[in-house]
Parts: sequence; structure tokens; C-alpha cells
Amino acid sequence: MISSRSTGLKGEFRVPGDKSISHRSVMLGSLAEGITEVSGFLEADDALATLAAFQSMGVNIERLGPGRLRIHGVGLHGLQKPDADLYVGNSGTSMRLLSGILAGQHFDSVMTGDSSLTKRPMRRVLDPLALMGANVESSGNGTAPLRIKGGAALSGINYAMPMGSAQVKSCLLLAGLYAEGTTTVIEPAVTRDHTEQMLRGFGYTVNTLAKAVSLKGGGRLTATSIDVPADISSAAFFLVAASITPNSDVTLQHVGINPTRTGVIDILIKMGANIELLNKRTVGGEKVADIRVTSSELTGIHVPEELVALAIDEFPVIFIAAAYAVGTTVVTGAQELRVKESDRIQVMADGLQALGVNAQATEDGMVITGGRVSGGVVESVDDHRVAMSFAVAGLQSESAIQINNCENVKTSFPDFVELASFCGFVLQA
Ligand code: S3P
Repeated sequence: MISSRSTGLKGEFRVPGDKSISHRSVMLGSLAEGITEVSGFLEADDALATLAAFQSMGVNIERLGPGRLRIHGVGLHGLQKPDADLYVGNSGTSMRLLSGILAGQHFDSVMTGDSSLTKRPMRRVLDPLALMGANVESSGNGTAPLRIKGGAALSGINYAMPMGSAQVKSCLLLAGLYAEGTTTVIEPAVTRDHTEQMLRGFGYTVNTLAKAVSLKGGGRLTATSIDVPADISSAAFFLVAASITPNSDVTLQHVGINPTRTGVIDILIKMGANIELLNKRTVGGEKVADIRVTSSELTGIHVPEELVALAIDEFPVIFIAAAYAVGTTVVTGAQELRVKESDRIQVMADGLQALGVNAQATEDGMVITGGRVSGGVVESVDDHRVAMSFAVAGLQSESAIQINNCENVKTSFPDFVELASFCGFVLQA
């Protein structure tokens, strides 16, 4: 992708459906009793990997039209042994959440993924699953492929997570559906709560008390209908894009603003962004709003650590905002970024340095002094959010930015180039 200078971004449009909610709609819809209808589903590789996994376990999922699914739930005990290994591509959410579900099945299964996913740490789910009585083997260094033995009798545990991770929390809660007794997960920092909220939407009792979430095994899920809002993580590219580009006025429609996801808005507002939440409403249990963003002068800040987990996927583009801000931005407490689809601290620091930005990677974050962004060539290392973030950087760089290896944009945002071009990005793909 080559991204060149733009004279302003304009338009009102909707970015694709929320990735986290899309995954969970297929998982819970499949495990529910009855028919779940979904609209706004994200038809991108990650969520489609989850969909294909459940189809291969015998769930009839009709694709009714763009973003519309009809899932014929089989109940918590109705999945069938897949004929082949489950391949979930680049999707950490599929692998970690599914490992909790598969641990509770009566059949054996094997799950694997692409070259990025098979390097990502899985012990964070395998260790607590073993404490519940699950029998899951990884390759020697705690990575996929995962071999999950069926027929294990799971028992509830009380588990204090060592890292803030909604994927780990969700994995254990999903395994907890199959466990004897109560499963409690205690988070060190609040993370996205879609699993808890959606389980409640499917009629399951989940208790949240401060940072502890509990449920009791042995219940049932009842089908419902789900309207997936637009993904704030995809909207984030446009929030930064319109902020750094003079003469911009963009409205993103129907974006999910669940408070466990809005860290990026809080961070950008602290940096001086002009962001308004319009027409706030609740749709199918999730808060949504239209988000209007206009150009602004951004200023560097020390990002409060309590916002880190609430903006974890948005840091690649927050680093771009910092590169265009006046002064220094410091990010700390974000070591989780090192184990995402790529090491997002190192990869973003390398890319920013290639563009002449003073960006220093630290163990758990980055220090960026904003100012001049030249053009040049950067590597996305096959990470969708890195690729789109550098496309945003090209909007105001001195010369064009060429971003290598952008195939994986379709992981979360297949029509990024079209939507970005529609509102005024100058992109060649
Ligand atoms: C996700 C949780 C986050 C996030 C990922 C989606 C989810 O991961 O980075 O893109 O849907 O639960 P962690 O919970 O591991 O931080």
C-alpha cells in the first residue's frame, strides 16, 4: 500500500462490525438452544475462522446476506467432532476462546493457525485450563498446534490472572460453562467485557464484583438476536486520521462505545482531539454512538496506565497520533503489545524510525517525540493494524509512505482501502 498526503477527510460512514462481538456471536449462538440471528457480523478472516470452526463441528450457520447470519444452535453439548484439524488463521481470539470450549467437549480436537498465531503464547490459557482438569497439549514451547483431549471432567477454579487479558478471562468462563461448580476469574485490570455481557444476553447468569467475574457450570444458553455495532478498533484509524489531517470532518456511524473499549477516545481527547459522541443509544445490550471527529492540534501526554487495557488494539495508531503531536508521548504498562499479531512495540518503533520520527521502544511501551514525519518504506510484518496505522501516517508525511505486506488487512477490515479512499485518503493498493 502507498499512502500519500491528503488535503482533508470528509464523510459519514460505517466501519465494519466489531470483531470481538462477531466471534462471540458465533460461539454463543452455536452453543445456544434455538436460532440466533446476527446482523452487522464482521465478514473478515478472523471472525470467518471462528464461523468455519463451528461449521466443521456440525453447526448449521446460514449466511443470509452481507453481515447477516442465522445460527441453528446445537446446545452446549451438541457439537460434533470435526473431521480435520481446526485452522483459525491469524486469530488469537478464536484460538484462546475456543480452547475453553473444546476443553469441555466429549471429543478430541486439534487447533492450529498461521505463522504469527503459532508463535503466540498459549500457556496463559493452558495453565489455568489444566487447573480446571482439562487435558490440552501444546508444542514444547507453549504454542499451537494445541491438542485437546475430550471427555475431561472440569471443575470450577478461582483464578487471579497474571495479565489483563479478555481472551484468557473469556476462555476460562467458557470452560466454566462445562465445569462442576463456580469458576471465578479475577482481572488485574478491567478488560473488555463482551463475553460476560453476551452470556447474560443468552440468558446465563454471570456475576461481576469489582474485578472478579464468576459463573456456575451446568446451565444453558438460550438463542437471541444480535446487532453487532461497528468496531471502535476499526473506527480508531479514522479518529486519528481526521485529527491529524487539516480540513477534516468525519462521522463514524453506529460505533460500539462499550466503556471497556473506549480507551482510545479518552487518550485522544487528552491529547487534544476534537471528538464528539452523538446520538448515544443502546442497541441489543451494547452502547453505540455516532462519533464525529474534526481536525485538531494534538499534544503529547503520558498515557494513563489504567487506559492501556481499554485501548490495547489501538496503540499502533495511537503511536501515529503521537508522531504528529507537539511534545512527547510516553506509553508504559503496555507489555502485552509485544505478544499481539506482531511485537507491536518493536515493529511500530522500527517503522516510525524509518520515517525519521524520534520513537524509542521500551520494555513495556514507547517514548515518542512528535514532529516531522518523512516518507519512506515501512514493514507491516503481516500485522493488519500496523499496516493500517502506517496508511494513516501517510496522510501528512512529507512524502509518500510505502507499506509492505498488507495482505492481512483483511483479517479485520477487508474494505479499508475503499472506505479510506472514499473519505479522502490517497492510497494505492
Ligand atoms: C480480544 C481481546 C484482546 C484483543 C483482541 C481481541 C477479545 O486480547 O487484543 O484483538 O476479543 O477478547 P487480550 O485479551 O489478549 O489482550
